[in-house]
Amino acid sequence: MKQPVRIAVTGAAGNISYSLLFKIAAGEMLGTDQPVILQLVEIPQAMDKLRGVAMELEDCSFPLVHGITLHDNPFDGFKGIHYAMLVGARPRSKGMERADLLEANAAIFSEQGKALNDVANRDVKALVIGNPANTNCLILSRNAPDLDPSQFCAMTRLDHNRSLGILGNKLGVNPSDIDGVTVWGNHSPTMYPDLHNATALGESVIDQIDESWYKTEFTPRIQKRGAEIIEWRGLSSAASAAQAGLDHMRDWALGSEGKIVSMGIISDGSYGVAKGIYYSFPCICEFGSYQIVKDLEVNEYGQSMMKKTEQELLEEKAAVDHLLPADTAESR
Ligand code: NAD
Ligand code: LMR
Repeated sequence: MKQPVRIAVTGAAGNISYSLLFKIAAGEMLGTDQPVILQLVEIPQAMDKLRGVAMELEDCSFPLVHGITLHDNPFDGFKGIHYAMLVGARPRSKGMERADLLEANAAIFSEQGKALNDVANRDVKALVIGNPANTNCLILSRNAPDLDPSQFCAMTRLDHNRSLGILGNKLGVNPSDIDGVTVWGNHSPTMYPDLHNATALGESVIDQIDESWYKTEFTPRIQKRGAEIIEWRGLSSAASAAQAGLDHMRDWALGSEGKIVSMGIISDGSYGVAKGIYYSFPCICEFGSYQIVKDLEVNEYGQSMMKKTEQELLEEKAAVDHLLPADTAESR
């Protein structure tokens, strides 16, 4: 039997975690041969609710769960962790501007970055799910100067999975028969779901769909799917977000089996994207790390879409720049 790994989940008493935790505990993230110790982190006001969630986890008697600990701060909750699922974030409240939301979350992710830097395992992999995920991830990474920026990701896998699901439905194929989809950029309505290199059962997707359906129906649908779910469900996506978080971390840790997956990662300047922002790229994962797929063709339309979402991320970065510690990544 393998040694247990430590997994921290923040926002552990919230909606997404109510799906995520039980899947992790069942071995759906790291495999059914990988024992886990769950380190659940919440704000002090949510500790009673968290206790209830922990009781339910205990009541499932999952054989892989070798321990559950509850924490009201990340410096305790992140001790020795190998994986961090950062779900907890400040939601947008009435009258709050995007810049206010960025600032409110900057405080949370600065503290969590410092905690990862100080107490996590040196090989920790951290996935930011809480919105605005890409810029929260930037703040997190910049506050963890002893860890490599490639140890942090922002989640765009939900947008990727949504693209596979909706496209599979349109083409009448199983989503697993589709490869080569990329969601570029920010997890926001500027994201660019790119089907130009996608295949379904080995055949080019773009040759099988109508351009106007792609540009005027599919693209805005993916970009605004989060809002569409909120409208119908009255709550933001939770089970699908949990599944996407699990898919992202599983592929990152265990490999994507040669398939392209979309991951919000630190830009190294590939495809002309500005360095130093967390931007979603096409990646293949192997041996516990990701590589950007570098040779995809991007047409003029794609380039303008990629620029737009890059611009938004640069604006978000500018809005929190005064809160970011100096970038030491270049010297590493
Ligand atoms: P929720 O409100 O049900 O739960 C969030 C939980 O986070 C709450 O229990 C809250 O107490 C906790 N929390 C807040 N600040 C915290 C902190 N500093 N430390 C620890 N815990 C903290 O929300 P949810 O539906 O679970 O969604 C969580 C986040 O995920 C939101 O920001 C949402 O917008 C985002 N989200 C992202 C994606 C994506 O694709 N990237 C998809 C869906 C939702
Ligand atoms: C989603 O994509 O479902 C989440 O980011 C929630 C939202 O506000 O869109």
